[in-house]
Amino acid sequence: MKLWMEKIIQPPRICLDASTVCQLKCPSCPTASGETGKKLGIGFLKFSDFKNIVDKNPWVSNIELSNWGEIFLNKELIKIVEYAYENNVALQADANLNNVTEDILEALVKYGFRAITCSIDGASPETYSLYRVGGNFQQVIENIKTINKFKAQYNSRYPILYWQFIVFGHNEQEISKARRMARDLYMEFRLKLSWDDLYGNLFSPIKNAELVRKETGLGVASRSEFREKYGREYILRDCCLNLWINPHINYDGKVLGCCINYWDDYGNAFKDGLKECLNNEKINYARAMLMGKRESKMDIPCILCQSYKRMEENKNWLTNKEIYAKKIAYILLENKVLGYYLTNQLARRLVVAKHRLGRWI
Ligand SMILES: C[S@@+](CC[C@H](N)C(=O)[O-])C[C@H]1O[C@@H](n2cnc3c(N)ncnc32)[C@H](O)[C@@H]1O
Ligand code: SF4
Repeated sequence: MKLWMEKIIQPPRICLDASTVCQLKCPSCPTASGETGKKLGIGFLKFSDFKNIVDKNPWVSNIELSNWGEIFLNKELIKIVEYAYENNVALQADANLNNVTEDILEALVKYGFRAITCSIDGASPETYSLYRVGGNFQQVIENIKTINKFKAQYNSRYPILYWQFIVFGHNEQEISKARRMARDLYMEFRLKLSWDDLYGNLFSPIKNAELVRKETGLGVASRSEFREKYGREYILRDCCLNLWINPHINYDGKVLGCCINYWDDYGNAFKDGLKECLNNEKINYARAMLMGKRESKMDIPCILCQSYKRMEENKNWLTNKEIYAKKIAYILLENKVLGYYLTNQLARRLVVAKHRLGRWI
């Protein structure tokens, strides 16, 4: 059955996970607990599959390489980064940045890897390792210094480095120190609220809520406070927009759609073709469900997702306006208008403003 809203979805940006393997054991992470691995498999994106996606889909110009694991464990990463550069495809990723070689760090700079969000939830080895179990704080800082050394050598501003600090009860007292360290390392600093119990038990809840409310700039210290204050979910809504704007694909080609789903897929992009999978009946039905245009259906992954459940409870469906706004934001991000850095700055300020004005716009 064809649905009314079926337009061809062919977004310039996708997420193609270079690894579902990770060496750390972060307590709230479903990769660390083995949950994602049971469904997605534990493995690495092959260079040949990456090349095929790039060759067959010239409309893809921006690829996020991380979703569930640590990309730097992928032994073919240098080839992937080099091929992306040769084919004008911008890359970015989140990473714990513990295990890297000089060669890959140099390649990131040489081949203009666009941005890395480094997960560093602490400003000292002791605090950092409470969540990044098995990680080495000093090593991560050294790796960042090495990237900066290559950036100076190649006279390049890429990769832009973000210090992402997930705020917990055990690290909240180190936020300002981390902020200073980030500045000294030429990194942008970002605070993120924890998943809380999204994937398991609540880990290390905030103790000094006043401090965290001030530090986040949002006046909230947890996702539940965010929900109460703004009447919608922190970040989760953006995850649903992935189906239109930034569809997520597993290392073996399974199309997952968004960054939350790991329990089902919409076909295999390597076998069935990316464009076909992004426009098949199942994914179009999911999009229609998220917009409240179709009844929920058991064989659509969203049915098991908290984000969808909340939307359904509140009848607060995704709108065309939101999808369009996100699309425009990504077009700007594609470096065509303001450039990557300025656009990111602008986007961050808009997000804060939007959160503050949330109830009225
Ligand atoms: C599953 S990780 C994979 C990428 C990489 N291994 C890393 O940790 O950065 C994807 C993102 O989830 C973030 N993350 C991990 N635990 C989290 C938590 N409790 N709350 C919010 N985000 C979390 C990571 O910091 C990272 O930005
Ligand atoms: S480093 Fe990332 S993928 Fe690895 S366990 Fe931690 S959050 Fe999960």
